[in-house]
Amino acid sequence: MNTILITGVGRGIGFQLVREFLERDYRVIGTVRDEAAQARVTQLAAELGKTIETHIVELSEQASVDRLKDALDDCTVDILINNAGVRGGSEDTYSELDLDDWLTVLQINTLSPMRVTQALMANLSKSNQPKIVTISSAMGSLARERSDSIAYRSSKAALNKAMQCLAVELKPQKIGVYLMHPGWVRTDMGGPNGDISVEQSASGLAATLINFDMADSGQFWNYDGERLAW
Ligand SMILES: NC(=O)c1ccc[n+]([C@@H]2O[C@H](COP(=O)([O-])OP(=O)(O)OC[C@H]3O[C@@H](n4cnc5c(N)ncnc54)[C@H](OP(=O)(O)O)[C@@H]3O)[C@@H](O)[C@H]2O)c1
Repeated sequence: MNTILITGVGRGIGFQLVREFLERDYRVIGTVRDEAAQARVTQLAAELGKTIETHIVELSEQASVDRLKDALDDCTVDILINNAGVRGGSEDTYSELDLDDWLTVLQINTLSPMRVTQALMANLSKSNQPKIVTISSAMGSLARERSDSIAYRSSKAALNKAMQCLAVELKPQKIGVYLMHPGWVRTDMGGPNGDISVEQSASGLAATLINFDMADSGQFWNYDGERLAW
């Protein structure tokens, strides 16, 4: 049985990804931030006749991520999905930009996926076909010129670059590294006017990412399998 670890599974896209991978008979490990979220995903798994292993992790804190690494011990992780993220406090333009808020967004959206990846590298290396999938956003694309949401856009642009570097470094070891845009999704983050439902996003992401191979590594992908411009 393949093992997948997904961050931020208590709600939104992460919650729906849990359903997708339990239905595909993966062993699913999820991170949440509180017991209420833990109860929600445990209930979801029970409804599907499955089980899920959850860990309470604050991804922006190294000590918390280290505890996750210790708890996983030497278990093989075939797929890591860095899903958790934040939008930041405002639709900031240059004139409104709150630098403290920007730092928080960078900490969670940019540094934390790399922090988790570092922590789980030994677990991933034990897999026959390891994949590191990071949920980014087309809002971080340099090909799109906009003036709003500086904190969020820059956090995802930096994330893309960091993961592209990682893809190059890990290619000789045959560890695939993939960036994905989930669509504009109707979640707490995406709001009610998003283009697609969380079900459409998660099913597209799951169907696309399980078919990734090393030739696809180091690229930016839409949830439906289309390649995106950086
Ligand atoms: N929705 C969209 O339209 C859209 C578009 C492009 C990209 N994305 C990306 O897709 C991913 C998921 O988005 P979503 O729409 O599902 O968002 P969401 O509904 O707001 O859920 C965000 C998830 O991230 C977790 N999280 C946030 N900060 C965390 C931290 N410091 N430590 C641990 N967990 C943390 C949250 O946990 P809590 O419940 O504990 O807060 C929650 O589970 C994000 O990376 C987002 O940037 C979303």
